[in-house]
Amino acid sequence: MTPRLVPAAADAVGRRERPLRLTVDGERVDGLAGQSLAGVLLASGRLHWRRGASGAPRGVFCGIGVCFDCLVTVNGVPDVRACRRRAQDGDEVTTQARTSPGEGATPQQPNSPESAS
Ligand code: FES
Repeated sequence: MTPRLVPAAADAVGRRERPLRLTVDGERVDGLAGQSLAGVLLASGRLHWRRGASGAPRGVFCGIGVCFDCLVTVNGVPDVRACRRRAQDGDEVTTQARTSPGEGATPQQPNSPESAS
């Protein structure tokens, strides 16, 4: 996976990629068919797109679907590993934070003060 986006006209190998377009937090991002979501995000200049519990930025760490650092929400589905999913034209990607629902949110205990209200 490369963070570089080589325009088809400048490709020395002569490949003819099909462009695709997705949105990331409402911002239009262009990519090429066959790229992973992480590849599209990296090629657009994003090095991280999630925050861990400590607030530290997270993006691609392993790149092979093991570490879960690259999680994003895609078309309303949370916790999608960006390194493992191919980008599809029209995908709506939203970034996540550790405190967002569906990712590490601590469920309330039945007898906790928060659950009494
Ligand atoms: S970068 Fe590790 S799971 Fe995606």
